[in-house]
Amino acid sequence: MDAFVITGGQPLRGQVRINGSKNAALPLMAAALLTDEPVVLRDVPDLADIRNMSHLLAELGCESVELDGEATPANDATSHSQPDQRVIEFHTRSEAESHARYEVVRTMRASICVLGPMLAKRGCARVSMPGGCAIGQRPVDLHLKGLEALGAQITLEGGDIVASAPGGRLVGAPVFMGGAFGSTVLGTANIMCAAALATGTTIIESAACEPEIVDLANLLVKMGAQIQGAGSPRIIVHGVAQLGGAEHTIIPDRIEAGTYICAAAATQGDVTITNCPLDALMALTSTLSTMGVQIESIDMAGAIDPLRANVRITRPGPLSSVEITTQPHPGFPTDLQAQLMALLCRADGISVITEKIFPDRFLHVPELSRMGAKIYRRGPTAIIHGVNELSAAPVMASDLRASASLIIAALTAVGTTTINRVYHLDRGYEHMEHRLTKLGAHIERVQAQEFAAV
Ligand code: EPZ
Repeated sequence: MDAFVITGGQPLRGQVRINGSKNAALPLMAAALLTDEPVVLRDVPDLADIRNMSHLLAELGCESVELDGEATPANDATSHSQPDQRVIEFHTRSEAESHARYEVVRTMRASICVLGPMLAKRGCARVSMPGGCAIGQRPVDLHLKGLEALGAQITLEGGDIVASAPGGRLVGAPVFMGGAFGSTVLGTANIMCAAALATGTTIIESAACEPEIVDLANLLVKMGAQIQGAGSPRIIVHGVAQLGGAEHTIIPDRIEAGTYICAAAATQGDVTITNCPLDALMALTSTLSTMGVQIESIDMAGAIDPLRANVRITRPGPLSSVEITTQPHPGFPTDLQAQLMALLCRADGISVITEKIFPDRFLHVPELSRMGAKIYRRGPTAIIHGVNELSAAPVMASDLRASASLIIAALTAVGTTTINRVYHLDRGYEHMEHRLTKLGAHIERVQAQEFAAV
């Protein structure tokens, strides 16, 4: 298995461009199941999760082909695509197979986002129940409740969700999507896609407000859907008879951007981040500014899109402690909790992080403690006593964002850290070791000898 070997102490300096968002791309790719025409996505990140989703879509009759970095169509002023960004066409040519198999779904629980599109377009769908993962149980009850509200008949058979629409079509209806932990991002995506082809109007109340939902709505509208209110807790969808193809540039990845911002701040570097969705990161930037991090928006070549800004990150002095609670957007994102914690390990005083989305999302805590961090877990709350320095140690990555947290800690630690099982990282960060090396980090990927746990 791959591991990263990182020697800390190098401030990150230079420029890094943020890729298209993984968490936007996955439901955008699934939306290609809603039409018989091609859907072209630009700035598709080169990630394990994207490859997994492409494999799943191929099994469901949706073929994907990478187009050479074609020039931006003159009439598409919203394309934003850069000549070297990946452009992929997704085209559903067959509806013969509508079973998202366990062997595929179990590798990526976000596969659940094919359920709504497939059910809406084909009138039937069979999707393996996604299992839990390192950060929590990950139920899908709200997805199923929402689809049943639209008339779907759903049974569970052999670990699969078996769904059908009576008469082949779903029927628009009011749907409350709130749950014990607030709204559901992929649940909202599933219902919005399903409602787009339902007869009549759907009101999605307590919808997720994440930027990735807005991006999906933007694509669906380009395909002919009638959607208002995306980005707010109430989304209204007027169903249409069919949807067509479209072209769309994926919004930049706010979690990747936040991760590099935290890394630059942690190492007291001087990093310019381009294609940065600053407008989608206000909870993070507000928190970091309070901590003493300087985040300066710079105008390069007239960048005017607040979701594609250029920012300079510096940190002239010590870090101050803070108290944060993770919340649905626009609150502090749970996907940046582990990265912020790595930063807070070196802050002055005592910080507090409360995890309200995935209360068990703390597998990075024991690993950071191995590096000398002083963190005390109390249920969904972690209390972080800042220390003067972290020291290198062999550590184990457990999930995608915990991996990023350990990298940030290792970049500032004294000595050389080995981070095992970085395959987790490859799910959501494109060529991270190369990009960090370009910023001056001492990092390399090695083959690690894994000894079975006993
Ligand atoms: C999306 O997952 C993201 N993944 C996650 O990012 C992110 O952590 C999460 O949203 C929260 O922001 C993708 O977009 C691919 P949820 P999703 O449904 O949609 C509970 C990463 O690191 N819930 O919004 O699956 C659930 O248990 C990943 O990139 C129910 O109770 O998350 C959680 O407590 C990790 N019933 C809360 O809601 C349901 O039916 C939010 O989950 C669905 C969810």
